[in-house]
Amino acid sequence: MTKSTKLGGTFTLHGTSTSLYRMGYGAMQLAGPEVWGPPRDVDGAIAVLQEAIAAGVNHIDTSDYYGPHVTNQIIKKALHPYPAGLFIVTKVGARRGEDKSWLHALSRKELVDGVHDNLRNLGVDALDVVNLRVGGMMAPSEGSIEEPLTLLAELKRQGLVRHAGLSNVTPRQLQEGQRITEIVSVQNFYNLAHRNDDAFVDALAKQGIAYVPFFPLGGFTPLQSSELDRVAASVEATPMQVALAWLLQRSPNILTIPGTSSVNHLRDNLGAAALELPPDAIAALNAIAETVRAASQSTQ
Ligand SMILES: NC(=O)c1ccc[n+]([C@@H]2O[C@H](COP(=O)([O-])OP(=O)(O)OC[C@H]3O[C@@H](n4cnc5c(N)ncnc54)[C@H](OP(=O)(O)O)[C@@H]3O)[C@@H](O)[C@H]2O)c1
Repeated sequence: MTKSTKLGGTFTLHGTSTSLYRMGYGAMQLAGPEVWGPPRDVDGAIAVLQEAIAAGVNHIDTSDYYGPHVTNQIIKKALHPYPAGLFIVTKVGARRGEDKSWLHALSRKELVDGVHDNLRNLGVDALDVVNLRVGGMMAPSEGSIEEPLTLLAELKRQGLVRHAGLSNVTPRQLQEGQRITEIVSVQNFYNLAHRNDDAFVDALAKQGIAYVPFFPLGGFTPLQSSELDRVAASVEATPMQVALAWLLQRSPNILTIPGTSSVNHLRDNLGAAALELPPDAIAALNAIAETVRAASQSTQ
C-alpha cells in the first residue's frame, strides 16, 4: 500500500512556527570509518546531502564531533549558503579521544567550545537546535543535567542557539530540563527492535515534543531479522523502508533521521515515507521487539 504525503508529512516543533518533514537525514555516516576523519569519497558524501535537499528534506542531524569537524565541514561545502527553511540540528556534550573513543565533554568550556566549533564549521551565526547529549554510549543514566543545560540556555539567550533539545535522557531528566528551558526535541536510541522508550515516546507525543530516534535502522550494524525480511517481501519494500515506515506510523511526533553514505540508500530510505504498513504487518513487526526483549532477559 502506498500513500502520497510528502516525506511523511510535517511536525511543528513545540513552541515554534517551524515545521519539519518527518523524514529527515542523519549525517553521521558521512565521516570516515568509525566516524573518524574524512570519508573515502568526499564527492559522494556531498552528492548524498545535495540529493536529500533536492528531495525536499529540511531536517539534517549532525554534530561537530563527527569526524571530528569533518561532517559539518562537508555539510557546509555541500549546502552553504543554506536553502531557506533548512534546519540543521546538532549536539554538544561529547568529544572524541585521539584513540577514536567517545568521551563526555560537559564542562562549561567544552560546551561553549562545542557550540563555537559547530557555528564555525557549519558557517552560521546561530544554530537551529542544539541537543545536550548526556548519559552512556547507548543508554541514558539518571543524574542532574542542570549545570550543562543552564549553560545551553545561556547560549540560547545570547542568540547563538535558537532551540534546545536533549539526547540520551530519561523522562526525569526531561522534566528537570523543562524547568530550565523550553525543550523542542528528545533524541534517544529507538527502533522497531529496541523499544525501551515506548512509554516515553507516547508521553512526549502528548506534550507535542518531537521524538527523534537515533539508530533508526539499527545503527552501525543495521537491523537483521527474518521476520522483518518477510514483512518487507509481503509489502514489496526493502527491510530498511519497512523499519522507517514503522517508525513513522508508530507516533506522529517521531521524526526520522536515517543515516547513509549512499545516494541509493538515501533514495530507498526516503521512499519509506510513501509506504503504508497494513495492521497485520505492524503486528508482525511489534512481535520482533518482544522476541528481542525475551532473548535479552533469558541471557541476563
Ligand atoms: N544522539 C546520539 O547520541 C546519536 C547517536 C548515534 C546517531 N545519531 C544520529 O542519528 C543518525 C542515524 O543514526 P546512524 O546513522 O548511526 O544509524 P542508522 O540510521 O540506524 O543506520 C545507518 C546504517 O544503515 C545503513 N543504511 C542506511 N540506509 C540503508 C538502506 N536503505 N539499506 C541498507 N543499509 C542502509 C548505513 O550504511 P550506508 O552508509 O552504506 O548506507 C549505516 O551502516 C546519525 O546519522 C546521527 O545523526 C545520534
